[in-house]
Amino acid sequence: MAMPLHATFVGGATGPWQVDRLAAVRGEGLPVVERLSVIEGRESAPPETAVWTLRGVTSNERYVTRTEHVALVERQPPLGRPEATRAALIPVRKTDQWWNLSQDERRAIFEERSRHVSIGLEYLPAVARRLFHSRDLGERFDFLTWFEYAPADAEVFEELVARLRATEEWSSVEREIDIRLVWDAETRRRPL
Ligand code: HEM
Repeated sequence: MAMPLHATFVGGATGPWQVDRLAAVRGEGLPVVERLSVIEGRESAPPETAVWTLRGVTSNERYVTRTEHVALVERQPPLGRPEATRAALIPVRKTDQWWNLSQDERRAIFEERSRHVSIGLEYLPAVARRLFHSRDLGERFDFLTWFEYAPADAEVFEELVARLRATEEWSSVEREIDIRLVWDAETRRRPL
């Protein structure tokens, strides 16, 4: 596994990503901001103008089987593709009930009954993704999910999100914010 990558998502008045929309899907919202920047590294100091900061770290996979892992690696595109000028940052917190389940019970809901990976695989390679864990950092969300896609795939991404939100897994989501972004900088897109 690659080394854990720490990232801080900073909402405020600066940053290369322009916020297209920011809406609470479930639970408490977040203040609307104009722009977003992503700072890498554990010791990142967010700018003083930050309205909110969300921290996360990549980790080992918890649920996927070897077969699923191989299928994901074969199909998933890298982050930072020049044409992927749209992104979504979707912070998610799950219920205490979810966290009180055992690993096999969570896997059964996540994949056997909700088909999270099977559904997700249908949308590769259009969508590039990275999952950040926040729960163990004492953050207000459990996960920060990050996705990148080309403008032509915006509707396809909406379909994916709608399908996942209709699953049994999502009944364990108690807070979710949907933040959509447009790359708005002179510089070429580059990986997070
Ligand atoms: C692009 C297609 C997608 C694929 C291929 C995909 C794949 C995955 C995989 C493999 C995991 C589990 C990693 C592990 O084993 O620990 C995961 C977790 C997760 N994904 Fe997705 N996903 C996709 C889209 C989405 C979308 C659109 C959302 C949000 C709306 C989302 C939210 C999450 C969350 C919150 C988790 C953590 C679940 C938990 O550990 O309880 N995913 N995803």
